[in-house]
Amino acid sequence: MTNNRVIKGRRAFLLGLGTLAGIGSVTIAGRLRNSNYLTQALDDEHRDFSITGNATLSQRAAAKGLIYGGCAGYRVLSSDSEYANLFAKECAILVPEVEFKWRNLHPKPNVFDFEKSDWLAEFAQSHGMLLRGTALVWHNALPKWFTREVNKQNAEQILIDHITKVAGRYAGRIHSWDVINEVIHLPHKRSDGLRKSPWLNLLGPDYIDIAFHAAAKADPQALLVHNENRLEDVPNVEKRRTAVLKLLERMKSKGTPIHALGLQGHLFRLGTETNFEPKKLQAFIRNVASLGLKILITEMDVTDETLPTDITVRDRVVAKAYEDYLSVVLNEPATICVITWGLSDRYTWLSKNRPRKDGTPVRPLPLDTNLRPKLAWNAVARAFDKTYKR
Ligand code: G3I
Repeated sequence: MTNNRVIKGRRAFLLGLGTLAGIGSVTIAGRLRNSNYLTQALDDEHRDFSITGNATLSQRAAAKGLIYGGCAGYRVLSSDSEYANLFAKECAILVPEVEFKWRNLHPKPNVFDFEKSDWLAEFAQSHGMLLRGTALVWHNALPKWFTREVNKQNAEQILIDHITKVAGRYAGRIHSWDVINEVIHLPHKRSDGLRKSPWLNLLGPDYIDIAFHAAAKADPQALLVHNENRLEDVPNVEKRRTAVLKLLERMKSKGTPIHALGLQGHLFRLGTETNFEPKKLQAFIRNVASLGLKILITEMDVTDETLPTDITVRDRVVAKAYEDYLSVVLNEPATICVITWGLSDRYTWLSKNRPRKDGTPVRPLPLDTNLRPKLAWNAVARAFDKTYKR
């Protein structure tokens, strides 16, 4: 039976008007980077995004042995009860958006602040949700004192102490930890592809293995993850994938306790490039899986920055990107979890970081700002419904 949530196929004349309106605003404004041609190539007015049943995203995922969830922060969940209630229904796993990061947890060299992270851990537990931590090592979101206090002599101890304290505090309560985040950066031109992060500069490539060992010791139950960005629709993605594979192989051969690769899944280049190549993504995931590693989609969203103003077209293109991407990754048995970076357009980092030039609000997530399901919600639901049971 078709659910009343189904957002039906568009009437041709409405679509035509909508498309024209969108294209018109792009052309007149002359500021957006996409061309009409590319938007038309991405759009398919006949695409079916219908769904059946009333189950939530987490229920649909669970029916296939998968986990669905989202990121959210303390400020949002503690102040917007309508959102918090819906979040707890739709999501089976919570990822604190910033509260488990160094800057938030470790405000002074010997001072930790667990107030907000504890609140979020309690929120997850009281709503029967899993909890995921990001990140134990990241070049970003480091506290101000870091540069002043950390040097080659004390870096290893400070890293181990931080991981021991943080991962130890939540031991047994964390589904998975991003032990390292965004460590590949090809413009830095190292042969191993590693980012010249503060940690690399201080400790060399071994910082990675040190971090994984410390995390495994502090929380033997958590799934330990290398979380990586830009493994999707970016130029030179195959080079990035090769660098990631080499790093994973190196870790496995050294006995470093890594269990999974996180693909962030921020899809950025809609309307400017159409270089999504399912076969290559599939091959990459299979190569990762052949090392005995699981795959998590950890931060998925689809930016509509370069798409036309018209919401009908925008939502449909964004939904297509969700379903096309998820269909590939969920076809692989190694994939165990899908997380969107937020749940509703009401709260998304893209409002600030990838605002639209036409001034209209961004629409990158499954629910709109009124918490109503969009085609993107249907697309995620369909991807879960269509995949096989693990
Ligand atoms: O909490 C302060 C607030 O007190 C202050 O007034 C305000 C001023 O700008 O800043 C607030 O902190 C911001 C924080 O988000 C909370 O909203 C930080 O400036 C801002 O840098 C921080 O951005 C987060 C960013 O990671 C850095 O931690 C984004 O929300 C978050 O979405 C983003 O998430 C990252 C993933 O961890 C890794 N992958 C990319 C992804 C998007 O950038």
